[in-house]
Order: sequence, then structure tokens, then C-alpha cells
Amino acid sequence: MKGIIFTEFIEMVEAKFGMEITDAIIQNSQLKSGGIYTAVGTYDFGEMVSLVVNLSKKTKIEVPLLLNVFGEHLFGHFTKNYKSMIGHSKNTFDMLEIIDQVIHVEVEKLYPDAQLPKITTSRISENEMILDYCSERKMADLAYGLILGCQTHFKEEFRIDKEYLEADGSHVRFHLIRK
Ligand code: HEM
Repeated sequence: MKGIIFTEFIEMVEAKFGMEITDAIIQNSQLKSGGIYTAVGTYDFGEMVSLVVNLSKKTKIEVPLLLNVFGEHLFGHFTKNYKSMIGHSKNTFDMLEIIDQVIHVEVEKLYPDAQLPKITTSRISENEMILDYCSERKMADLAYGLILGCQTHFKEEFRIDKEYLEADGSHVRFHLIRK
């Protein structure tokens, strides 16, 4: 997993929970990297899992909720640092439609070792979209947070229903309906 995801995660934990909790979860996670990340580096995905699980233990907030909040935070970071990739998207659906074929393709050019999910979308109507998330990393809760961040960015609001198409979370369908 790319370092940028780790640096943003640590930054969010510091901002929301403080230095003490940040240090504690890094200690408790027993990381090969020692918890020192650079944005362009690549680190074991298992380190992210350990960090989130230890943050959950420390804060008593469930892992899915922590990943939702992190996804929202991350999208905010993407809008600032990858402005050009958001390009001409004028709304949430425009944006979600170009993740797989445009945004993540650009990400892969920047970071050839990036491990990206497969995201497919289909527009049912002007107000309704299906988005399928497929990934061995099973981070649909992070995807959910990124979708929340996206709708906030475009000042839109959707009801988002989640359906597990694979019980292990490697294929999850989101159904977005405008409120
Ligand atoms: C400007 C917008 C976006 C940028 C620049 C971006 C970039 C990235 C980057 C750099 C990674 C890390 C890859 C790695 O660690 O190897 C990533 C992973 C990921 N992206 Fe995006 N992304 C964007 C939007 C989205 C959105 C809106 C979604 C929501 C569906 C999404 C879903 C994910 C997920 C869930 C991962 C984690 C890896 C996995 O699940 O396999 N991304 N993205």
C-alpha cells in the first residue's frame, strides 16, 4: 500500500485523537517500518490493518466506522493534492464514473506498484447509481468513506445502501439514491 495512505492516516489520527494515542497505536502495532512513512514509499498492507485495529482497541470505535471517517478525510486530501485528476467532474456521479478508467489509471502511472480496487459504475437514472467495489484488500468501508467525501465535495446527498456480493467483503455493491 502506498505511503500516501499511511501518512494521511497518521495525520488524521494525530488531529482527531492526539499524539499520545498515535504513539500508542504505532507501538502496539509492531510495524516493520517502525511507523515511519514517506508519501512515495510502499509498505505492507498488513501494517494498515494493524494500525486500524489498534486504533479501534484504543478508542473503542469500531473498525468500519474508523475506515469511513478515514475515507472522508482522504478524499479531502485527494481534492487538494490531485486536483487535476478530478478534472471536469461536476457532480458525484461524474466523479465516481471516472475513478476506474481515469483516476486510478493516472495513479498507476504515478505509482506503478499501487494496489487499486476495481470500481465499476452504472447509472440507473439521473438520481440513482450502482457502484461495485472489488478488491482482495476488502476495504469497502474505506470506499464508503471516500464516496461520502465525494458527495460532501459536490454538496450533494445520497442514501447509500451496501450489499455484500461476496461474504468476505471482496465484492461489495453500493446503491446510491439522491435524497
Ligand atoms: C481524486 C480521487 C482519487 C485518488 C487520487 C485516488 C487515489 C488512490 C491511491 C493513491 C490509492 C492507494 C493505492 C495503494 O496504496 O497502492 C487508492 C486506493 C483506493 N481507492 Fe482511490 N483515489 C481516488 C478516489 C477514490 C474514490 C472516490 C473511491 C471510492 C470508491 C476510491 C477507492 C479506493 C479504495 C477503496 C482504495 C484502497 C485499496 C483497495 O481497496 O484495494 N478511490 N486510491
